Amino acid sequence: MSVRRLAEESLQPQGFSFSADNAVWAEATIRKYPEGRQQSAVIPLLMRAQEQDGWVTKAAIEHVADMLGMPYIRVLEVATFYTQFQLKPIGTRAHVQVCGTTPCMLRGSEALIDLCRHRIHHDPLTPNAAGTLSWEEVECQGACVNAPMVMIFKDSYEDLTVEALEEIIDRFEAGEGASVKPGPQIERIYSAPEGGLTTLTEAPTSSAGSSAQGSAQPGVSLPPANAGRANADAEETDPKLKTPATDKQGAKASADVSGENADKAKE
Ligand code: FES
Repeated sequence: MSVRRLAEESLQPQGFSFSADNAVWAEATIRKYPEGRQQSAVIPLLMRAQEQDGWVTKAAIEHVADMLGMPYIRVLEVATFYTQFQLKPIGTRAHVQVCGTTPCMLRGSEALIDLCRHRIHHDPLTPNAAGTLSWEEVECQGACVNAPMVMIFKDSYEDLTVEALEEIIDRFEAGEGASVKPGPQIERIYSAPEGGLTTLTEAPTSSAGSSAQGSAQPGVSLPPANAGRANADAEETDPKLKTPATDKQGAKASADVSGENADKAKE
């Protein structure tokens, strides 16, 4: 992983403030945390700042720190640790995150990276001349089953070929990103097998009432299975067995005895 630093001063805006809607959202988000734990809102607030301005500026880091009563260095540590936070301006219409981890690499991600180098910019995290597109290589995004894939903002585009990714990039650059269907770019439903089901191909039948085909024949009524139910004969599932939750006095007495034993051991 490369060193992550804030963008140079010449790129940093003078100040930062949340839009009216985002300010309301930020206050509500902070209130979700228990008293004394408001600093836990640091990640959602930084992410909202990024969604608002496209990247996390130094002024945004300081603003979030002030809102949460945190030292600037603590929020800077969070922003520079997580690669999900962009510390420099990225493409305004698409930031293409190409997964380069092994399953995607074995299925052609290197060719996708080459495409980004030629189509967008030679260097990652560097916007094209118009400032509309940028790219970077990222680690596994959890869609290996449909490798290779890319993320663009919050959506993933899977089962890619160079041609399919080039078309997606073209559409985002033309401002038509919202109309690109996320998920698999081939004929499959989510991660179902390519070309249709290979198992469980029989039509499902209902265990109660009519069959799935709408037959008037009543289905076979099966009793509920006992699989997974507690065996009440087993000692540990005996309802009479007392637990700390049901026998608070017993639990307290036992805790007192353990405390006394510990005191004796110290003597
Ligand atoms: S390896 Fe690419 S999504 Fe997991």
